[in-house]
Amino acid sequence: MVIINKMSSTGEYLYDPKLLSNLDWNLVRPYLSPFVTCTEPGESWLIVRPLQLEDYKKGFVQLLSQLTAVGNITEKEFESQYMAMQKTGQYYITVIEDTRSKTIIGAASLVTELKFIHGCGLRAKLEDVVVNNTYRGKQLGKLIVLTVTLLAKHVGCYKMTLDCKDNLIPFYKSIGYKLEPGNANSMTVRYEDPS
Ligand SMILES: CC(C)(COP(=O)(O)OP(=O)(O)OC[C@H]1O[C@@H](n2cnc3c(N)ncnc32)[C@H](O)[C@@H]1OP(=O)(O)O)[C@@H](O)C(=O)NCCC(=O)NCCS
Repeated sequence: MVIINKMSSTGEYLYDPKLLSNLDWNLVRPYLSPFVTCTEPGESWLIVRPLQLEDYKKGFVQLLSQLTAVGNITEKEFESQYMAMQKTGQYYITVIEDTRSKTIIGAASLVTELKFIHGCGLRAKLEDVVVNNTYRGKQLGKLIVLTVTLLAKHVGCYKMTLDCKDNLIPFYKSIGYKLEPGNANSMTVRYEDPS
C-alpha cells in the first residue's frame, strides 16, 4: 500500500503547486495570442497543475500513449514510479486537466539535473510534451511548454534543452527555443526495441 506524506511541502502533488503562482509570464507574453497563463488558462474548466496520483484514473497514461509506446502500466506501478520521482524532488511533471470530464488533456515534464559545472548549477530538460489530439491547435501546447519553461527558470536552472522531431522545430521556435549553430545534434543509443 502506498502511503502519501500529507505533511510534505508537495502534499498531494508531485511538486509544490505554489511554484506555478510565481512565474514571470511577462517574459513570454509575445508568444501567446490571446495571452494566457497557467493560472489564467483562458477557460474556466481548464486547470494547469502538478501531476497527482489520481491522474492515473484521469487518463494520464492514455494521454502519454499519444506521444509514444507506454506499455501496460498498472496503477501500482504508476504509484511506485510517482513516489520515486517525488522523493528525488527533480521531477516537475505538469498537466492540464479538463475539469468537466476530469481528464488529463495535456502534459509536459521538466526534469532537473544537478551539475558541478556552471558553479554547481542546475540544468533543465523538457520531456514528454503532449496534448490530447482533440484539443490541439488551441495554444495548449504552447501553454504547457511555456509553463515548465518558466518554472525551470524560477527554480534556478541555467538552461533548458529538448529533443524533438524535425517537424516540431517551428513549434518550439515560435515559443523562444533556438537551434544553436554547431550544437543542435541529438544522438541516441537505444537499449530496448522501440516498436
Ligand atoms: C506538439 C503538440 C504538443 C502541440 O500541441 P498543440 O496544443 O496543438 O499546440 P498549439 O496549439 O500551442 O500550437 C502552436 C503552434 O505549433 C504548430 N504545431 C503544433 N503541432 C505541430 C506539428 N505536429 N507539426 C507542425 N506544427 C505544429 C501549430 O500549427 C501552431 O502554430 P501557429 O501558432 O502558427 O498556429 C501536439 O501536436 C502533440 O501532442 N503532438 C503529439 C506528441 C508530440 O509530438 N509531442 C512533442 C514531442 S517533442
